[in-house]
Amino acid sequence: MSKQKTKIKKKILTQENIPIFKRLIKDYIKPYTNYLIVAFVLMLFVALSTAALAYGMKHILDEIFGQKNADALPIIAGVVFIIFFVKGTSTYGQTVVMNYVGQRIIADFQRQMFQRLVHSDLTFFHNNATGSLISRFTNDVTLLRAAVSTAITGAGRDFLSVVFLVGVMFHEDWILASISFFVFPIAILPIARFGKKLRKVSTGSQEIVGKLATLLNQVFQGIRHVKAYSMEDYEQKRADGIITELYKLNHKVIRARAAAHPIMECLGGLAIVVVILYGGYEIIEGTRTQGSFFAFVTALLLAYEPMKKLASLNSDLQEGIAAAERVFSVLDRKSDIVNMPNAKYLEIKQGTINFDNVSFAYNTHKNALKNLSINLKGGKMTALVGPSGGGKSTILNLIPRFYDIQEGNISIDGQFIKDVTLHSLRENIALVSQEISLFDDTIRANIAYGRLSASEEDIIQASIEAAAHEFIEKLPHGYDTIIGEHGVKLSGGQRQRISIARAMLKNAPILLLDEATSALDTESERKVQEALNKLIGGRTTLVIAHRLSTIVQADHIYVIDQGQVLEEGNHASLIAQNGLYARLSNLQSTEDEQRKLVA
Ligand SMILES: Nc1ncnc2c1ncn2[C@@H]1O[C@H](COP(=O)(O)OP(=O)(O)O)[C@@H](O)[C@H]1O
Ligand SMILES: [Mg+2]
Repeated sequence: MSKQKTKIKKKILTQENIPIFKRLIKDYIKPYTNYLIVAFVLMLFVALSTAALAYGMKHILDEIFGQKNADALPIIAGVVFIIFFVKGTSTYGQTVVMNYVGQRIIADFQRQMFQRLVHSDLTFFHNNATGSLISRFTNDVTLLRAAVSTAITGAGRDFLSVVFLVGVMFHEDWILASISFFVFPIAILPIARFGKKLRKVSTGSQEIVGKLATLLNQVFQGIRHVKAYSMEDYEQKRADGIITELYKLNHKVIRARAAAHPIMECLGGLAIVVVILYGGYEIIEGTRTQGSFFAFVTALLLAYEPMKKLASLNSDLQEGIAAAERVFSVLDRKSDIVNMPNAKYLEIKQGTINFDNVSFAYNTHKNALKNLSINLKGGKMTALVGPSGGGKSTILNLIPRFYDIQEGNISIDGQFIKDVTLHSLRENIALVSQEISLFDDTIRANIAYGRLSASEEDIIQASIEAAAHEFIEKLPHGYDTIIGEHGVKLSGGQRQRISIARAMLKNAPILLLDEATSALDTESERKVQEALNKLIGGRTTLVIAHRLSTIVQADHIYVIDQGQVLEEGNHASLIAQNGLYARLSNLQSTEDEQRKLVA
């Protein structure tokens, strides 16, 4: 028997929920205590005026219909109006205050999540689909707000209303009140059960919302490819599947929620039936006035709505807790790549970069780099070549600490990169990659991205050096032209020159170029290459290039294969070694010859 009892109790407020509750209250609700006190006072007015209406019923009926007292008529009318006025204005005030607090709480969550996410490691973003992260921001936060405001309004307005109305009922007839309220607790028990089910379904539905958002994101961004491969129907089917799954689950949520109602409805009806039978009998017998009977019935009917709300409070809370859990899981994620406790400021002298016996794996089962040692001389150009998947980009991405290595050391001018602040490290590095790095903003804003304080002259100077000024001037709005998401309104070569202008403006001593020219046609490649040569001048540069012609001039070349250095030297010495580099070089010069013939 007692075992059964604790089981039911657990379902209403489970052990695992308590820390989530505490955290919600302490960190998100408490800052608004003042507002909540105001809201509570207003709720108290709502509850009191509601109870007053029920109580007043007795006087209306007995004075006017019973005694036919004409003098009481204007007084009663006045009082009733005042009661409605108080009820109306306090309901308005309470709604406004509660919504204000709710929106502020949403904003607090969104700010914190954004801050958390924008500082997260790349690995986190590789492992979490964009759509599900967006869903955290929109759906989960909205569910949370709904739960918080329903819980507070429930605990305030609805609970107080029920208490006062029950007070009126007991005042009128305690036996009748006890009978009708015997049924209410029985109604609570089955309703509590829906809570847990709802929470599970709600979690599932949020996951699907995330999946849908991810799909939409992919399809709309890759719409060109969807069309080129005639994949509209395929994508339609995928979307259909997710949409169907979503509405089915949502329907389940609604059903679980709605199930609370018929139970309340039936039990409420039962209570009314008992009251009519017993109370009616008393009136007929003359032991009770009609006024007292109607006051009781009014109180019972008025108590019915808030009671129903209190009964479904649990399911709202369960949805909110599920959402809170997901939001907290984002907020609690610790970044692996952070400043050491006493991280120092990176001081660049020559800008020499050293990889000393570095081993690195993206995931535990396969090493992307194995005991790799390379040296990038300060102010010189070093190139990485080799077959695709060999680990070149990985090497490059380790320098700004996008990932942390498992073994060995990476240092810049003798300072281990793990010991310096991330900010000072990244401030000294400019990155130009094949990956599109432009935002849907003006050209000016895109160029100034790494140095927001840059003056107009600096921006133009950088564009001139990046061979971008000329084409920018010809655009309809010049530097104020909005370039579309990922710069879709520009050609590949133009995009790349804007990226170079950005790097130029940043003027960092270390320059990382990952296949910066490989997506371009020969003509744009030549222009971009010229711009790059200006950018490289005097900086420590690491170049990854598919086309060997662009790295012939490198001071030192490493041939990377399977995460290791296969060969090294300058162009001439590597050709002389007659290994992989010489073979790649041969292959490409024949290709170039052929291309020339075709052209
Ligand atoms: N984000 C990642 N997560 C897991 N594995 C990765 C990731 N990026 C690259 N790899 C793997 O690491 C290896 C080296 O890749 P990469 O450095 O990109 O090669 P390259 O630039 O020489 O073509 C490949 O086997 C690739 O599959
Ligand atoms: Mg690569």
